[in-house]
Parts: sequence; C-alpha cells; structure tokens
Amino acid sequence: MTCAAMDDTMKKESDDLDRLTVNIADLEQVEIQIASWCNRSCSFCPSGKFPVPKTGMTSETVDRIISELERIGFSRTIGLHLMCEPLMHKNIQDIVKQFRDRLPNTFIRMESNGDALKNMDRLGSLMDHGLNEILINCYDSPEQFATFNQKILALDPTGGPIWYWNQWQRNPATPKKEWRVVKLRAFYGSGYSLKNWAGHVATQRPETLTLPLSLDCARPSNRLHVNYLGQVILCNMDWKFEVVVGDLRTQKIEDLCNAPILLDYRRHLKAKDRNMPLCRQCDSGGPTGLQPSFPAADPWTGLRALGLDLKRWHPWKRIRSALGLRPPPP
Ligand SMILES: C[S@@+](CC[C@H](N)C(=O)[O-])C[C@H]1O[C@@H](n2cnc3c(N)ncnc32)[C@H](O)[C@@H]1O
Ligand code: SF4
Ligand code: SF4
Repeated sequence: MTCAAMDDTMKKESDDLDRLTVNIADLEQVEIQIASWCNRSCSFCPSGKFPVPKTGMTSETVDRIISELERIGFSRTIGLHLMCEPLMHKNIQDIVKQFRDRLPNTFIRMESNGDALKNMDRLGSLMDHGLNEILINCYDSPEQFATFNQKILALDPTGGPIWYWNQWQRNPATPKKEWRVVKLRAFYGSGYSLKNWAGHVATQRPETLTLPLSLDCARPSNRLHVNYLGQVILCNMDWKFEVVVGDLRTQKIEDLCNAPILLDYRRHLKAKDRNMPLCRQCDSGGPTGLQPSFPAADPWTGLRALGLDLKRWHPWKRIRSALGLRPPPP
C-alpha cells in the first residue's frame, strides 16, 4: 500500500470513530433498572417469562450511578423503570430524593403498573421527593382506568400541585425539572401494534415483518441503560443481559458510553444493518399502528386544552371587579 493510500485509510478510520463516538453532553437519557423484577407478567412483556432474583438495586450501586452522573454534570432525563416495576423497590422514595438532591436539574420519571399506588398519598409523596413525571398504565379494564381517573381528579381539582395530564391534555409551562405530572394510559384494549422486545415475546402486531429490519436505531447512541447490578447493557430490549457493555460500578461513564462494543453496534445500525445479537430479532421502529391511549379525564378537558378553565373562571369575581365593588368580608 502506498503512503497516500495508508493516509486515506487512517483518515477514514478516524472519521468513522468521530462519527460513532458519543459526546457525553449529548446523552439524552439514563434508564435504570431500579428493581430486578415486576409483580406482574403481562402477555406482551418478557417479565415473568424466565426466572430472576427479586431484589432492589443496592444503595451502593445507586450512589455510584449518581456520583458518576454528578461528575459529568448530567442534567437531562433519568428513567427509573427499565425492565421492572420501579415501585417494587422498598426505598424508591429515598432513591428519588437522592437523585433530586444531587442532580437538581434532571427530569426524573417512571412508568408503573400502578398496583402499588392504591393509596394516592404515595403518588403525592413521590412527587414531594422529587419525581417529575409518572406514567401509570392501566392494563386491566375500563373500570380500573375509571377508578384511577376519579382518584387522581380528587387529588387536586384545581390542577395545582399535581398536573394531571389527562385533565389538561397538555404539559405544564414550568421548567421540566419542576414538573409534577401524572399521566394515565388506557392499555387494556386489543389490536395494538406493540414491540416484540427483540424476540423475548412473540410478535405483537397485526402485520408480518421480515426480520432483521433494515433500520437504524438511536437507542445505543443517545441513551445509557443500566441494569439492577450496575452493568451497562445494550438497550431496553436486553432483558437477559446478553450484550453487557461494562460495569458502571468500576468504570467511568464516558468510557462506557463509547465502549468498543457500542461503537460496533452503532456502526452497524447507522448502516441499517441489524444482523447482530438482539437487534436481529427486534421489531422496534416498525410500523406504529394502533397504540394505547391517554383518554381525557372529564368533559371539560377540551376547553382546558384551549386555555379556558371554567372551574377557575369565577363570574361573580369578574362582575364585582367590573363594577368596582369590594369583596365581601371573610
Ligand atoms: C416494561 S414496562 C416497565 C414499567 C412498568 N412495569 C409498567 O408496566 O409501566 C415499560 C413500558 O413498556 C411498555 N410496554 C410493555 N410491553 C410493551 C410492548 N410489548 N410494546 C410496547 N410497549 C410495551 C409498558 O406499558 C411500559 O410503559
Ligand atoms: S409491562 Fe410492566 S407491569 Fe406488565 S409485566 Fe412488564 S414490567 Fe410488569
Ligand atoms: S435495534 Fe438493537 S439496539 Fe435498537 S432497540 Fe432493538 S435490540 Fe436495541
């Protein structure tokens, strides 16, 4: 090979590395498996289909993850529901508080089956400890949805401390790190196009797809996935920890974000080549189809979405102020 050709090859390799390397500041979300298990085993989910120990992430591992995120000045999204039911962790409130106290600018969220939220005080308490958003999935029935809906509406009829997304059909205008949002999702229907969790469950969509899909996937580039042991894994499809990138308990986060195995996955995925372990069976990114929905909380929801809140509009106050009358003594 001539010197010029060698230079070309080296330049191409270095450009390739630049293209695949993730800048730590661009990391959008850290997803954490805060508990190893879930109390349910939904038909469309890998949970409960193979044995796992029932344990919460240790306080040492939680501390190490937070320390690493503190060190890099992480200020984006923390998801606490990776491949688990986050409310199974007995110290979940304290954990949320630790994240909030030490990473004050992050947006902390979780998704839950709601089983541990029969007492609505717990919802408020999670928010008081620093949770910004919870998505509660109603998997059972319209009755389950209606019961949750009533309980959440009763929490705060003015939309103050807890912002019930279904009631407003829009997000609050405050900075995300100050949100206290609850979303209730109706997931009890049928005919949805759901993902197959990289082959961990059978296909969950009406149409037939040919795998591997010829599609890119941004997951291993813009998110970091940490299992309950503290290991970084490929993505949220890796329920059996088949592609372990490294260990966040002993390695630095920036080294893990650009570990050789992740660079290799990114190289293939950017070329729309999913012919690798997990990706080869994964239908994520396929046609979206019918999805579980977020039904409106009550008949006034449409007006509120337009910025009108009849419950807050007090005609007597307006008439009094138009006539210049003083309010009655308390
Ligand atoms: C694995 S769950 C873990 C969190 C919690 N246990 C729950 O069910 O909300 C994470 C999210 O994936 C959704 N999910 C589960 N199976 C799915 C599938 N086959 N396709 C798409 N989303 C799915 C759940 O509704 C939930 O919002
Ligand atoms: S979807 Fe959520 S609630 Fe259902 S089995 Fe999976 S982790 Fe559990
Ligand atoms: S394509 Fe690969 S990296 Fe992307 S979600 Fe599926 S299994 Fe994970």
